[in-house]
Amino acid sequence: TTWSGRSVTCTAPINIAVIKYWGKRDEQLILPTNSSLSASLDQDHLKSTTTASISKEFKRDRLWLNGKEESIENPRIQNCLIEIRRRARKRKHNDDSKSEMLNWSVHICSENNFPTAAGLASSAAGYACLVYTLSKLYDINGDVSDIARRGSGSACRSIYGGFVQWTVGEKKNGSDSIAKVVADVDHWPEMRVLVLVVSDQKKHTSSTNGMRNSVNTSDFLRYRAEHVVPSRMEEMIKAIEEKDYQKFAELTIKDSNQMHAVCLDTYPPISYMNDTSRKIINMIHAFNKYQGELKVAYTYDAGPNAVLYLLDEHVPDVVSLINYYFPPCDNIRETFIRGLKVDFKTD
Ligand code: PMV
Repeated sequence: TTWSGRSVTCTAPINIAVIKYWGKRDEQLILPTNSSLSASLDQDHLKSTTTASISKEFKRDRLWLNGKEESIENPRIQNCLIEIRRRARKRKHNDDSKSEMLNWSVHICSENNFPTAAGLASSAAGYACLVYTLSKLYDINGDVSDIARRGSGSACRSIYGGFVQWTVGEKKNGSDSIAKVVADVDHWPEMRVLVLVVSDQKKHTSSTNGMRNSVNTSDFLRYRAEHVVPSRMEEMIKAIEEKDYQKFAELTIKDSNQMHAVCLDTYPPISYMNDTSRKIINMIHAFNKYQGELKVAYTYDAGPNAVLYLLDEHVPDVVSLINYYFPPCDNIRETFIRGLKVDFKTD
């Protein structure tokens, strides 16, 4: 064709934290009040797909989300786009045709294959995918997790597969607040995740507003950040390295409960869970007690949906249990922890 341009398509997974990020110390750069740790999920079920194209013929930057055109002036998207273009310019392009491409407008098309803003980490997959795709489009090498972080904090962890930590960092410019792989995708192949979709409605308090209120009003948030998370991160990394499921499950459960306790300690209080979420918690504690050890761990983000971490061999029992107490359960999706699969296409 006569079309002169370039197009790249990538996918990125959602991630579910086992040590939760809750609180920003810098809202502009999106720097957290504590480190966090998550697993990136397999992309068969829950993922974002983004296609980004640049062309001489495009008149202005444009963005489509789930098939609908949205304003590209969204400040967080702009933060990512500006930083990507800044890094692309910094690279020395001897090739004139490439430096010319930097002045072309970009068209971005992004889709999630699951409900947006229902506390299912849609922004994490979305921003990770956007930044990763743009980095491939503009040939940027090296870590881009700090750019994804400027879109949505938790997005930095979706840049990598496997178990990933986001270090709190000390620097004011955020250069050390980045994602790092703790254990890669093949490390714990028996680990499974079940997502129990309790509700796919949009969440009532965005994580941004919720975190801001918590930072401003909760003493417990400061206590958690200073006295709990640093040692808990170390214990969690050790549990993952040693594949110690008992320790992993206990820490996961406790950390989810603590994040939601901080939400309750916020004034006015925030509660993301509903009665079904609490019934699931009670059911899991009763089941684990009956089994004499932890067979399944739950965790909740900024919404009522439960995410369960468990080992492969216990999936049938746990699915039967959920079927029994919560029929029908066709909302359950089993996903597997795998790596970030990148589909890199150029014209
Ligand atoms: O990235 P955000 O701003 O959507 O924050 C999400 C925070 C939690 O999902 C609730 C916890 C986490 O660590 O993912």
